[in-house]
Amino acid sequence: MCAMSNLVIVTGGSSGIGRALLANAPESSHRIDVSRSGTSDVVDEHVAADLSDPSQWAAVAATLAARIVERSWDRITVVQSAGTLEPIGFVGEVDADAYTRNVLLNAAAVQVLGHHVLAALRRVDTRAELALVSSGAAGNPYPGWSSYGAAKAAVDQWVRTVGAEQEQRGGVRVLSVAPGVVATPMQEAIRATDEADFPNVARFHQLHEDGELIAPDVAARAFWALLDDRSVPTGSVTDLRDRY
Ligand SMILES: NC(=O)c1ccc[n+]([C@@H]2O[C@H](COP(=O)([O-])OP(=O)(O)OC[C@H]3O[C@@H](n4cnc5c(N)ncnc54)[C@H](OP(=O)(O)O)[C@@H]3O)[C@@H](O)[C@H]2O)c1
Repeated sequence: MCAMSNLVIVTGGSSGIGRALLANAPESSHRIDVSRSGTSDVVDEHVAADLSDPSQWAAVAATLAARIVERSWDRITVVQSAGTLEPIGFVGEVDADAYTRNVLLNAAAVQVLGHHVLAALRRVDTRAELALVSSGAAGNPYPGWSSYGAAKAAVDQWVRTVGAEQEQRGGVRVLSVAPGVVATPMQEAIRATDEADFPNVARFHQLHEDGELIAPDVAARAFWALLDDRSVPTGSVTDLRDRY
């Protein structure tokens, strides 16, 4: 009997939650990381890209589409985990170029890449999931994280809308997943922030001191359990903290 063959594509697979998702992918998966550095040791293939640069999106999309259609996979899972908080600070005070890159990476790239992935998935008849990584910041305003929170709110609404579309035709499960506070380099960057730029920073120091941060592997296993749970319908916005 043939072993299962899964295609697992993770943007931001070089670090943190994305890397842990690749490390915890089902056995016999072909694992692709899309990131700038490609530092993950758990990949079969690295697609080098700066996703905050719109001129690179078409080439990334073409590479991923080629992998999706090149053979008959048993299951295809795409997770968009690439994201950044930089520049942390108040609008009107932060660097404009860094702010532009934040908006393009967190809000725009996920939607446009999501479009290309769903277009490619239309060409195959395979069980498929597309998950976007969201955050509690989608629903709570954190001064200093304006474009980040706005992008995650956009992610949630994109998933609700595209999930409703896929229910009508397409058949891909489209999910938004907020992981909770996970011990990654992003959390280290938060704790290194000046209170003037991020007034809530003390809460994140406290969570860290109290040992409340979730390990990336724990988050990744709960994330995979959600992906595997077909009773979670397309268009769902899920907070993993309810499932740990
Ligand atoms: N950690 C948390 O507590 C937490 C909570 C809620 C939501 N999240 C979300 O979880 C996701 C992953 O975060 P993390 O905590 O794992 O952070 P992380 O360890 O800093 O990883 C971020 C990933 O995004 C990639 N990335 C950043 N900028 C990129 C760019 N311009 N182009 C391509 N890739 C880029 C990085 O790869 P390169 O640097 O190699 O490009 C890296 O793989 C993010 O969407 C974040 O918003 C995290």
